[in-house]
Amino acid sequence: MSNRMWGGRFASGPAEIMEEINASIDFDKRLAPQDIRGSLAHAAMLAKTGILPREDAAEIERGLKTVAEEIAEGRFSFSRALEDIHMNVESRLNELIGPAAGRLHTARSRNDQVATDMRLWVRDTIDALDGQLAELQMALAEKALAHAGAVMPGFTHLQSAQPVTFGHHLLAYVEMLARDRGRFADARRRLNECPLGAAALAGTSFPIDRFMTAEALGFDRPTANSLDSVSDRDFALETLAAAAICAVHLSRFAEEIVLWVTPQFGFVRLSDRFTTGSSIMPQKRNPDAAELVRGKAGRIFGALQGLLVVMKGLPLAYSKDMQEDKEGVFDALHTLSLCIAATAGMVRDMEPDTKAMKRWAGAAYATATDLADWLVRALNLPFRAAHHVTGRLVAMASERKVGLEKLTLDDMRTVEPRITEEIFGVLGVEKSVRSRTSYGGTAPANVRRQARRWLMRLKRERDAPA
Ligand code: ARG
Repeated sequence: MSNRMWGGRFASGPAEIMEEINASIDFDKRLAPQDIRGSLAHAAMLAKTGILPREDAAEIERGLKTVAEEIAEGRFSFSRALEDIHMNVESRLNELIGPAAGRLHTARSRNDQVATDMRLWVRDTIDALDGQLAELQMALAEKALAHAGAVMPGFTHLQSAQPVTFGHHLLAYVEMLARDRGRFADARRRLNECPLGAAALAGTSFPIDRFMTAEALGFDRPTANSLDSVSDRDFALETLAAAAICAVHLSRFAEEIVLWVTPQFGFVRLSDRFTTGSSIMPQKRNPDAAELVRGKAGRIFGALQGLLVVMKGLPLAYSKDMQEDKEGVFDALHTLSLCIAATAGMVRDMEPDTKAMKRWAGAAYATATDLADWLVRALNLPFRAAHHVTGRLVAMASERKVGLEKLTLDDMRTVEPRITEEIFGVLGVEKSVRSRTSYGGTAPANVRRQARRWLMRLKRERDAPA
């Protein structure tokens, strides 16, 4: 049998394999709520502009609401022969209300319909992700405030560099997530134009009101060019790009957690709720959640790359290739949501071992820069000269296998005779972090102020009426 939605000129139905490659219903059924929202707005507009008799529009509205209920309650039977969500909904509408259903598709096409559905779905998802990211920021800022003064080693090249505080380290991720939220918000702003009414590609001869449907669906305005309307997937690409960068941040944090929970680092302990045991090695506590957050970044990047490749060779306007936008977008944004939730859970439950962190913060001559800075401040040495003197002191301490603070004043004076007792005052890790008061520096007072500022901002935002 030929397709009952478009089969007029076809004598026979599709080959089985054609149906399989063509159908998108298995994955686009999740667009049902957006598809029905779009159809309701379209029908109301057709009635208002006199294109559809009021009675038909009322029937359509009633029928669409029934379809929505059937789908929400799992009573709807999706059919592959009907290809996609658009035709599944319309076909069921026809069963429910009869011929009036056939009028719904006046002045539109599946091309503008699917573009509208996808924009609505991506917009809804961005809003949900933004809320989740704010929660993760809140969890990080709370931990940061609690441990604003907990000294830990700061690294460059993964070599102990200078002491920092655990709170400062966590707040670095709050900043990254703020940029992620900014990128999603930015994508959302550009996304928020309505393609509905562009029809197949050229617009329509019916006197439709695209401003009315745009407004009804919460868009800022209708899209301005009908060809662009049906062939644009920038909104999906931009959102995936934002998701990919966000996944980079979550993955870097996950990597740090994986390092921190090793017995070798021993900086933090994760709760039982976010670790697993080994089936053979009874002593193990594996940070699987963190490893999966790190690993899942791969599929999010893959979705972005996949869609870029799908789009790059397409002539205007719609081509069926674009149906391939969906699975990647759905999977990537769902995956990101899962990663954010798992990261927030790990952060809330995470317990730092502040003693271990502090011990390592002082190791490996981490306060050498403080010593060099003292030489500059107290003896007025040029920094380069101070660097050299400090290097010789580090070499001396390293030869004796002791920390800098274990050298005697006499030892030090063999390198630089003007050094005084005062120098020992700058060699402690607490002193070191407390002295880093420059804007954005790791001084606990700074960290506390920043953490409080973030918490206030996040709470204000959360409690603000939407
Ligand atoms: N399922 C299709 C998609 O996702 C809907 C648009 C189909 N349009 C068409 N002209 N065949 O892209």
